[in-house]
Amino acid sequence: MADREQWISRRGFILATIGSAVGIGNIWRFSYVAGENGGAAFLLIYIFCVALIGLPLVIAELAMGRRGQGDAVAAFTIGGRGWPWVGWMCVGGAAIILSYYTVIAGWALKYFAGAATGSLWTAAGEGFGGYFRKFIANLGEPVAWQAVILGATMFVVAGGVARGIELFNRWVMPLLALLLVGLAVYALTLPNSMGGVRFLFAPDWAAFARPQVWAAAMGQAFFSLGVGMAIFVTYGSYMPREFSLPVSALAVVVGDTLFAIVAGLAIFPGVFAFGIDPASGPELAFITLPQVFLRMPGGIIAGIVFFFLLSAAALTSMVSLLEVPVSMAMHRLGMRRWPATAMFGVIIFIIGVPSAMSFGALSHIRFNGGGILDTIDAAVSNILLPLGGILIALFAGWRLGRAEVLKEADMEDGALGRVWLWLVRIVAPAAVLLILLRKLLGA
Ligand code: TRP
Repeated sequence: MADREQWISRRGFILATIGSAVGIGNIWRFSYVAGENGGAAFLLIYIFCVALIGLPLVIAELAMGRRGQGDAVAAFTIGGRGWPWVGWMCVGGAAIILSYYTVIAGWALKYFAGAATGSLWTAAGEGFGGYFRKFIANLGEPVAWQAVILGATMFVVAGGVARGIELFNRWVMPLLALLLVGLAVYALTLPNSMGGVRFLFAPDWAAFARPQVWAAAMGQAFFSLGVGMAIFVTYGSYMPREFSLPVSALAVVVGDTLFAIVAGLAIFPGVFAFGIDPASGPELAFITLPQVFLRMPGGIIAGIVFFFLLSAAALTSMVSLLEVPVSMAMHRLGMRRWPATAMFGVIIFIIGVPSAMSFGALSHIRFNGGGILDTIDAAVSNILLPLGGILIALFAGWRLGRAEVLKEADMEDGALGRVWLWLVRIVAPAAVLLILLRKLLGA
């Protein structure tokens, strides 16, 4: 094994981890899940879950990764017994998530191309609903866009940790932040935009009593931060000793939450200004928003920016998901980076094809009423990520020695380390288990 790759700068490392966290989850998923779950009340519960479960887990993953100095499996190997299987579950899980995530990212890229060339806007005649459904039902087109955006991901990952992943995020993430803030400022100048702001910030206290809102908020916290599948274990393994771990973790969590909130500020004012139902589900970004853009002054440009944002944010997350199996192949199979990238790129593409075709040629395949992509997404967010989260928390909290894990997490002395330890030992696993069981038992 050659010298292990490392991040070059702390700034680059933090931007890469924020790039992993910020993705379709912050823009497309956050806005529709918040829309379906009452807006502001959901946001408060979401922030609560992020602080009490998400942040401790990010710290746990980074510490395990830096401790293991290898791939996701290596981080668990020191636990002995069955623990390495948890690492394998994460490697497989990251590949599965990437397989269908790529499909949605491909839709975003197609919409960006359509918005920029104008073909999206001329489609307005047939209605955006019809346009979207015709596109995702098409036999070849979704698969083609899936291939394009996966190819771009492979290109970045093949460049390596510092010169591929870090460099790419150093440029793209500040640009995304700038564009998103611009989009939000623009949305807030629309007439009647305050309805959207109120929706996001004026809580409806009754929602706190609804268990579904808690379950939705926790699922969203896992997905949006991207914890539970050893992404941060992998990124943490490239982290030099001198980077402060809690500060980096806090930056990721705060950055990810701010992105989601600002995305909400970019999306809901328009939705409310035109009197559209915010609870329109997964179609929000692809059907509702184009309608809103078309009716706003200067909306075509806003639409181009929005779909660029969505595609680029997806890309930086896809890079992190691909890095997990690639890192495994390099560390464990002794492969070089680019053949490992090529191999997993092809495998993940093939696994993703049924998801890409699940609204067309394969739309007859259904599980409990959902298609292939929806079913995988639900299984991932509701079961796989929480399960990974519980196991990671238990491993870091109980299996690694107390002194050792606190040292690796850079919290050797002080109350902070103790608070964190009890959050990963008890609070996070118990809370996640409770919500997971409720979901599994169909409550
Ligand atoms: N967090 C990303 C998003 O919000 C997606 C993502 C990246 C992810 N890595 C992950 C989701 C690991 C689950 C697990 O779009």
